[in-house]
Amino acid sequence: MTDMAKSDNSQQAFWNGDAAQAWVEAQGVLDQMFRPFEDALVEAVAAQPGNRILDIGCGTGSVVRAVSRRLGQRQEQRQGARCTGIDISEAMIAAARAIAAREGVSADFICADAQTHDFAPESFDMIVSRFGVMFFDDPVRAFANLRRSVRSGGALRFAAWRSAGDNPFMTAAERAAAPFVPDMPVRQKDAPGQFGFADQHRVARILEDSGWRDIAVAPIDVACAIPKAALDGYITRLGPLGRILPQLDEKARGQVIEAVRAAFAPFVQGEEVRFIAACWMVAARA
Ligand SMILES: C[S@@+](CC[C@H](N)C(=O)[O-])C[C@H]1O[C@@H](n2cnc3c(N)ncnc32)[C@H](O)[C@@H]1O
Repeated sequence: MTDMAKSDNSQQAFWNGDAAQAWVEAQGVLDQMFRPFEDALVEAVAAQPGNRILDIGCGTGSVVRAVSRRLGQRQEQRQGARCTGIDISEAMIAAARAIAAREGVSADFICADAQTHDFAPESFDMIVSRFGVMFFDDPVRAFANLRRSVRSGGALRFAAWRSAGDNPFMTAAERAAAPFVPDMPVRQKDAPGQFGFADQHRVARILEDSGWRDIAVAPIDVACAIPKAALDGYITRLGPLGRILPQLDEKARGQVIEAVRAAFAPFVQGEEVRFIAACWMVAARA
């Protein structure tokens, strides 16, 4: 039985297909990689007065758990303190629920499309997201829906990627694989996806048009790292390569993996893989 709100969106199909399974399996590595963003969002929550927090596109729930733990430490605000994660992916939400239960973290998880989900009006004090808001097919409608869920004066804080060109680590695999894969999907500017919010002026316009105010879109360059031993799994399972590799014959697959490994060599330092994530930290008020 699922509580998924159905919509006709290709992102829903994507995040409920092989990508979700790959994300669930790579979750430990990804959470390690993106830990600095989690810390920044937890700090942002701690700096705000409210204690009802909503995490958009929460995935397997690392940010939700970290926020819930932080809210639990706020003795003066324990009453009603709650973090809720929403995600369109059934597999991710199932994993999020299981991990939270295993770790004894009390939090709510909703499996639904955040752009259309019928949130109770003004039921949150703050919305956060780590890379979970660039996938909406109608972002103005989505952010208007999210704004209604937040009390007047409530805060929005999310991290989103700057451009593909600004993020050579994130695009190294597809660039290296391109000569071997003639029909490599081409990224469309502003299309829903990882780099859908690359244009800061567009992000600001989307928020303005959906009724948010005090909008600030600030560039942040964040040092991220994963163990070298995790690199192969990361590059072969996630992103465009995760989709393409299973379709190639063994010879082509071997060639691609070799080329891609070489492309990541500059990021390897000793036993770690290090890179700078070029992102926006976006803040606004309802
Ligand atoms: C890049 S992942 C980030 C996951 C998580 N925030 C993290 O940092 O680990 C993007 C997430 O957004 C979710 N997502 C995409 N479109 C969504 C939508 N319309 N409503 C809710 N979640 C969505 C995906 O299922 C996926 O879990």
